[in-house]
Amino acid sequence: MIDDSFSSNNFVRAVKLLRAGALVAFPTETVYGLGADAANPAAIAKVFAVKGRPFNHPLIVHLASRDAVPHWAEGVPDVAWRLMEHFWPGPLTLILKKQAWVPFAVSGGQETVGLRVPGHPVALELLHRFAADGGHGGIAAPSANRFGRISPTTAAHVEEELGGRVPLILDGGACAVGIESTIVDCSRGEAVVLRPGHLSPQRLAAVLGYLPSIITTAGAPRVSGSLTAHYAPQTQLRVIASRHLLAFINALRHKGERCGIIAHSQPPQLGMPHAWKMLPADPFGYAQEIYAAMREMDHAAVDLIVVESLPDAPAWAAVSDRLRRSAAGAGRG
Ligand code: TXA
Ligand code: MG
Repeated sequence: MIDDSFSSNNFVRAVKLLRAGALVAFPTETVYGLGADAANPAAIAKVFAVKGRPFNHPLIVHLASRDAVPHWAEGVPDVAWRLMEHFWPGPLTLILKKQAWVPFAVSGGQETVGLRVPGHPVALELLHRFAADGGHGGIAAPSANRFGRISPTTAAHVEEELGGRVPLILDGGACAVGIESTIVDCSRGEAVVLRPGHLSPQRLAAVLGYLPSIITTAGAPRVSGSLTAHYAPQTQLRVIASRHLLAFINALRHKGERCGIIAHSQPPQLGMPHAWKMLPADPFGYAQEIYAAMREMDHAAVDLIVVESLPDAPAWAAVSDRLRRSAAGAGRG
């Protein structure tokens, strides 16, 4: 059931549910999360069951403030504290050595834990109330979608993905960032980006003093967002260069195929597709709307989703990463 989260009754209900080992979906500035008490392995098991996610994939633990970090992580390096000071609350997840007590259920069997203080008033209110209620105060929350699917950026998307299987969905409106947090591994020496996001390596470099490498595949700890096929719509999706768009659409029409286009340039004069979705031509505006656009196209009953390719510039790296993975995983549902 979706509920207006700003009512304090809903926070009381949410905390009760979490304390009882039930799930609560809630908004963050990046995407909606499917929350469970991070200290309760039985509650965490429900997250995996509801998402249909493999058990060895670790979850991010959300905290009310960085004061809670030493309770969850040990040997936190200076560089991690500096990143927290600059970017928390915000779209940054840090991978740190976990404290011995932290359940392996939440860390996917690893000795590290992902921690984040989200920058959304509803998430923070929930986290503060949950921490004040006793217990350990961390809320484990993956994105509130079925495994491999597009992350939800509104409460209605969560309802569409998981409705009926989550007792409470807190509604905090549309997410401002729109793609998942930047994940930085600080657990072994030099900081490394495991998943690109709104916070670019360049912005991290201003705090780190060096440009972190991006390691999204082999050698990195397991990150489900780094699987090639992820963030995928049910309809086939292809990324086509701007200059080839018109010819491509016309060829599809010729074959009698219905396509939907997600673009950031003006529509071509001829060969209008079945559905056209225009997104902002700046990377942050684009990120905010891309998942909702893919969902809309999934509902538009087209045979193919065609996405205009993105500029090959560092500022577009995070959304380009999500598009590549969407294209790899699309059409399997
Ligand atoms: O923006 C976000 O990060 C959202 C919101 C809800 O906070 N959450 C999110 O969760 O995207 P999820 O589970 O869909 O993706 C979290 C990623 C996963 O790919 C997981 O493997 C990785 O974080 N992760 C969590 N703990 C980790 C660890 N100890 N080592 C390596 N990767 C970890
Ligand atoms: Mg996810």
